[in-house]
Amino acid sequence: MKFTTTVAAVALGATAISSAQAVLSPTCTTYLTALSAPTNPLSKCRVYTALGFPGITGANDHDTPKLQKAIAAYCATPACTPEQYAGVYKDINTNCAADMIAANQADLGTTMYMWYMSPPQRDAICLQSSKNTTCVIDSINEMIARAQFPNANKNEDDLYGYLQYVTPMLSPKDTNATAFCTSCNQQVANIFSNYYTKSPSPYLLNFEQQLTSAKYNDDLSYQYKSTCQVTLGANFKPVDNSTNSNPSANKPSGSDKGSAGQAAVVLSMGGVAATVAAVAGVLAMF
Ligand SMILES: *[C@@H]1O[C@H](CO)[C@@H](O)[C@H](O)[C@H]1NC(C)=O
Ligand SMILES: *[C@@H]1O[C@H](CO)[C@@H](O)[C@H](O)[C@H]1NC(C)=O
Ligand SMILES: *[C@@H]1O[C@H](CO)[C@@H](O)[C@H](O)[C@H]1NC(C)=O
Repeated sequence: MKFTTTVAAVALGATAISSAQAVLSPTCTTYLTALSAPTNPLSKCRVYTALGFPGITGANDHDTPKLQKAIAAYCATPACTPEQYAGVYKDINTNCAADMIAANQADLGTTMYMWYMSPPQRDAICLQSSKNTTCVIDSINEMIARAQFPNANKNEDDLYGYLQYVTPMLSPKDTNATAFCTSCNQQVANIFSNYYTKSPSPYLLNFEQQLTSAKYNDDLSYQYKSTCQVTLGANFKPVDNSTNSNPSANKPSGSDKGSAGQAAVVLSMGGVAATVAAVAGVLAMF
């Protein structure tokens, strides 16, 4: 399998924003505004909103104990139900069906993407690691220790940027296979892979690039297969390199090598610094 396209999926970066016009219909705008109101019980069903982002972090924030605390508090609350999410999709379809077009990727597309991703995001951030903390905090701490920025972008150097980057970590760029293929990263990737398969998005996950959850799953599975030799999905079993004496086990294998670099998929929405700079309030209400 060979991927020749780089999927800049839902980057909430300057390019995506500046090329998009906020042309949502009044009905859709009204619905989304009501949906995001803090008084709406559903507003907390979007995981990063429930964690307090973007308010809890800012540029160069590496205070992972603070994030761990927010995660622990959030994971102690009941999850939103599949019925609640299904209700939101149904209402989005009722109110915004005509708005699901490329030009609305930056606002409606991003909003729908975050709704779709919230159930596995919750499972991923609440996953405990063997170190008595959560996997995502371990992964973020490891990134910080090796000075790896989310998406190799200094503007995403905040807790929001790191957390999104590791749910799931999708590209080994700026790291090596050993650091990329940790048990935690593999498990988090598998949570997303299973979700894409079992609960395919009812809508395109990116109107602009016509991306489905199947495409996201293909790219994710390809990346972990080629870099870590692990198979995501029903037969998932984390590959532990420490018991593998084959030194090539952590390198992309021959036939995959050529396309590995091009398989990089960018799923991140950007850090707070990048988001604030690019969005400047346009999306704040959603
Ligand atoms: C694990 O974390 C819990 C809660 O933070 C703490 O009470 C417990 O002592 C920790 N256990 C170890 C072995 O560090
Ligand atoms: C991979 O990166 C980690 C962290 O930066 C480093 O400790 C390790 O030595 C590297 N491994 C190889 C094989 O280069
Ligand atoms: C690979 O080995 C390194 C160093 O022994 C370890 O830190 C890392 O977690 C291992 N990766 C996996 C997938 O177990």
